[in-house]
Parts: sequence; structure tokens; C-alpha cells
Amino acid sequence: MGTSSLSLHHPPPLLLLLRLLLLLPFVTTQTILNITNRCPYTVWPAALPVGGGMRLDSGKTWTLQVPSDTRGGSVWARTGCSFDGKGSGSCQTGDCEGLLACKIDGQPPYTSAEFSLNQYNNNSFFGISLDQGFNVPMEFLPMPVKGQGGSGCRKGPHCGANITSQCPSELKAPGGCNSACTVFQEQNNGMYCCYESQCEPNKYSAFFVRMCPEAISYSSDASTDTSFSCPFDTDYQVIFCPPATIFTSKSS
Ligand SMILES: *[C@@H]1O[C@H](CO)[C@@H](O)[C@H](O)[C@H]1NC(C)=O
Ligand SMILES: *[C@@H]1O[C@H](CO)[C@@H](O)[C@H](O)[C@H]1NC(C)=O
Ligand SMILES: *[C@@H]1O[C@H](CO)[C@@H](O)[C@H](O)[C@H]1NC(C)=O
Repeated sequence: MGTSSLSLHHPPPLLLLLRLLLLLPFVTTQTILNITNRCPYTVWPAALPVGGGMRLDSGKTWTLQVPSDTRGGSVWARTGCSFDGKGSGSCQTGDCEGLLACKIDGQPPYTSAEFSLNQYNNNSFFGISLDQGFNVPMEFLPMPVKGQGGSGCRKGPHCGANITSQCPSELKAPGGCNSACTVFQEQNNGMYCCYESQCEPNKYSAFFVRMCPEAISYSSDASTDTSFSCPFDTDYQVIFCPPATIFTSKSS
């Protein structure tokens, strides 16, 4: 017995080397996404392609690790959900075929944090999109880097306005505000959606841009930056219902 446990703890060098070689291809670097719920109510965040989804009570954080080369990633909040013990049920907004752990995109409307990590020149790109409408105020920030004197990447989009409460009546949905693309897609041949050359501002896109100028909306009339980038080794935080920031904007 003594000898067998000894040999387990001290495998022959060749075996050790083989194990290392087998493990190496599976070692990928990870990027941390802290998803925090500052809303006074429970939300059920969902994340793709990695994460799935879970219940997140007010004040709680979901720490997610995603591969550092993730493309087309997204995080959104679902609201008004109820799930059974097996993780199936439904949500008022952002529902993904009734699953607690999402495998497909949600049902609009929802505010979406979108990211593609470690792309061109080792930069990561991220933003908040209102293309699927809006349900919960959101902020998407680089994680502060400890002990580096704040020299790290610091800027990210803030969409703190409650768009739901000011939503044009045509776009109103239970628990949120739809994009005009979602609502008028069929009647108007996608004139409110933005395809390659069709990104003309309209009264609906202007409304979303006015409410959240730092978020991506269906139009080319955004006067502020809506696409943010940070070095590849940056971690991030998504905050639902972020604390209000003091705007220096001249508009009222
Ligand atoms: C991220 O989440 C982890 C675990 O909840 C926590 O320890 C850490 O302080 C968080 N980081 C930030 C910057 O909020
Ligand atoms: C990106 O990172 C890789 C690996 O760290 C490095 O070999 C490459 O030169 C970097 N590319 C640029 C454009 O910085
Ligand atoms: C936003 O407004 C809606 C409708 O007025 C309200 O139900 C909701 O609680 C508000 N959300 C936040 C985060 O304040």
C-alpha cells in the first residue's frame, strides 16, 4: 500500500511528460467577466457562447470565465422569469426557449453587452447594443487593474437611462422597449433595420441614441463613440442598473 501511493505521487518522468503533452492543447487563457446585479430586483443573466445563464439576486455577482479569443460574445439580462428545478420555465424578457442556461439568443427586447476578444492587433472590442431593444439599464466596463495606478484601459459604455419608461407607444413591450427593427421588420421591408448601406437615422433610432448615446442603435447618427477597445489581457464587468454617472453634456 505504501509503495503504490508513493508511485502515484511520484510518477516516472516519462509518464509525467506524456501527461503534460496531453494537457497542453487544452490550456487556453481565460478572460474574466464579472456580471453584477445592482437592480433592486432579481435578474437572470444569460451569456453566449460561454456561460449559459443563471439566477442573480440583487447585489450579487456572477463571475464568468470565457476563452480569451471569444468572438461574438454576448451577455444580457432576463426579467420576470420562473424556472422549475430542472431549469426550464419562461421569462418576460430575454427568454431563450424557456431554458435557465441559454443555448440560443433571447427573445427581444433586451439590452445586450457584446464583445469579441483578442482580435485585430491583440485588441478586444466591446459595446452595448440596443439593436434588440432594451429591458435593463447596463454598464460595460474594463475591470480596474489593481496596483497599476489606473493606467489600464478604463473606458466603456454606460446606458443608465430607463428607456422602458419613455418608450414610444408603438415600441412598448411587457418589461421593455422593442427596437423599431423588431416591430416593423415585416411591414416595412426592414427599413428600420440597418443592413449594409441602409443605416439612415429615423425617429426611432434617434430616440434610442438620445437615451443612450454610448450604445449601438440601428442608425449612423450616433455622434459619440459606441465601439470600445482594450488590450487583449483586460477583464470586464457588466453591471445591471449601474449607479448614475454625472453627465457633462450640455443638452438637457
Ligand atoms: C469580481 O468577482 C469576484 C467574485 O465575486 C470578486 O472577488 C472580485 O472582487 C470582483 N472584481 C471586481 C473588480 O468587481
Ligand atoms: C499579438 O500577440 C502575440 C502573442 O502574444 C504576438 O506574437 C504578436 O506579435 C502580437 N501582435 C501584435 C500586432 O501586437
Ligand atoms: C423602468 O421603468 C419601468 C416602467 O416605468 C419600471 O417598471 C421599472 O422598474 C424601471 N426600471 C428601473 C431599473 O428603474
